[in-house]
Amino acid sequence: MTDLQLRFVPDPVLRAVCAPVTVFDAELAALAKDMLDVMYAASGRGLAAPQVGITQRMFVMDATWKQGVPDPQVFVNPELADCSDEVAVLAEGCLSIPDRTSRVARPAQVTLRWQDLDGALQVGTFTGFAAACVQHERDHLDGIFCTDYPEAP
Ligand code: NI
Repeated sequence: MTDLQLRFVPDPVLRAVCAPVTVFDAELAALAKDMLDVMYAASGRGLAAPQVGITQRMFVMDATWKQGVPDPQVFVNPELADCSDEVAVLAEGCLSIPDRTSRVARPAQVTLRWQDLDGALQVGTFTGFAAACVQHERDHLDGIFCTDYPEAP
């Protein structure tokens, strides 16, 4: 069980610009596990640290568990390294903004750089739902919501 509580708009912690993670220890690993627990319990596919009141640059994602294929992933200090010119529009929901979706146009394919829980550098390319999700969650680390974008047609 975790003590972490999901935060909802207009909680000001959601507008914080989060600080880089500098310590890669058991506490960070425990936080990642707790964030995944909160995300699954809320039936979400992505959760950023400020959504549980932690202003550190970290998010978790499991893009496929709802299809019966669990794939928990942890992204520490994520940065977009490359974005496709091609754009995709997805109706995005956010655990911190209940009962609302927002159609957001984002690059359809992105390459992300991040650190894992050991601090090792990782790189990956994401398409489809996962591409939108990593961009949505990374935005949270700068206090940006999907609802801040103009509604896409
Ligand atoms: Ni969100």
